[in-house]
Amino acid sequence: MADPDRFLTVADFEAAAAARMDAAAWDYYAGGAGNEHTIADNRHAWDRIRLRPRVLVDVSERNLSITVLGTRLAHPIVVAPTAAHGLAHEDAERATARGAAAADALYVLSTISTVPMETVAETPLGAPRWFQLYAPEDRTTCRDLVDRAVAAGYGGIVVTVDLPMPGNRERDRRNRFTVPLGVHLPADQPTGETGLVVLPTWTWSDLEWLRSVCPIPLIAKGILRSDDAERAFQAGCDGIWVSNHGGRQLDTSVTATAGLPEIADAVGGRTVIVADGGVRRGVDALKALALGADLVAVGRPVLWGLAVSGAVGVARVLEILRDELSLAMALAGCRTLDEITPDLLAST
Ligand code: GLV
Repeated sequence: MADPDRFLTVADFEAAAAARMDAAAWDYYAGGAGNEHTIADNRHAWDRIRLRPRVLVDVSERNLSITVLGTRLAHPIVVAPTAAHGLAHEDAERATARGAAAADALYVLSTISTVPMETVAETPLGAPRWFQLYAPEDRTTCRDLVDRAVAAGYGGIVVTVDLPMPGNRERDRRNRFTVPLGVHLPADQPTGETGLVVLPTWTWSDLEWLRSVCPIPLIAKGILRSDDAERAFQAGCDGIWVSNHGGRQLDTSVTATAGLPEIADAVGGRTVIVADGGVRRGVDALKALALGADLVAVGRPVLWGLAVSGAVGVARVLEILRDELSLAMALAGCRTLDEITPDLLAST
């Protein structure tokens, strides 16, 4: 097994994971829609933002903790929901859960999981977790998943709203790769060519219905516009997850860096805002927080840690990002997350 302590950056994990994984499974994780412009933009958008650090602040102690929807978190780096962890490691989501818990990170388990949510909930019991929902068309089946998540102790439901049908995943189509749907969805669930769920009929009234049957916080994931964020808030959502689905849905969609300011203006302070897409450095997370996010999620980096060395790799990836964020806060003159404000960002 690779020794993840030798890995200094998230990029080190990417290279090692690529070398270890089956090529088609790697393409499924790495790939996006169409020409993959959005994947490239997600990465470059963070790099283009310049910072205006504050000086002469006593930053000897930094506090990265935050309380979100009733849960105290040690830091704002979150494990984004990603599908089929069995492709990366034999312990699959069990290892991800152990690694996230070891790094004190909130883990958002995907519906498309190799391991049942109840098992993940016990690995270990009591660690902070939300459940991502690909809502099955049949309301009874959908409600059953919500009830199970509530019974298993998940603290929130993250409903994906940007996948009426899968994006044009050309790598998967060329590889004839089909995503294993895992243990939560019915075997007859309608899927697209590459195996993801298809739910083109889901609309705002379904979101309102979901709200009415979901007794725990509800977060709508995959929102890039302030009018949609406002509408999700009006439908009763407690959180807005600003995301272009890792560049896997509509190629050339805007990035979180573009969506965050208008969404933070519209619903910031009234809802929790999560952002993801291309975060590979703690300084990217700092920028997301300065743009108005409360939490910053990472998807592929966690899969790279998982592929390299299971739970230990997952924990190390998350710790690298947390520690880089803490250092970036110190160098920007921020002692707490509240001090990470938009004036840290240069306008050009
Ligand atoms: C799963 O959510 C995917 O986008 O492949």
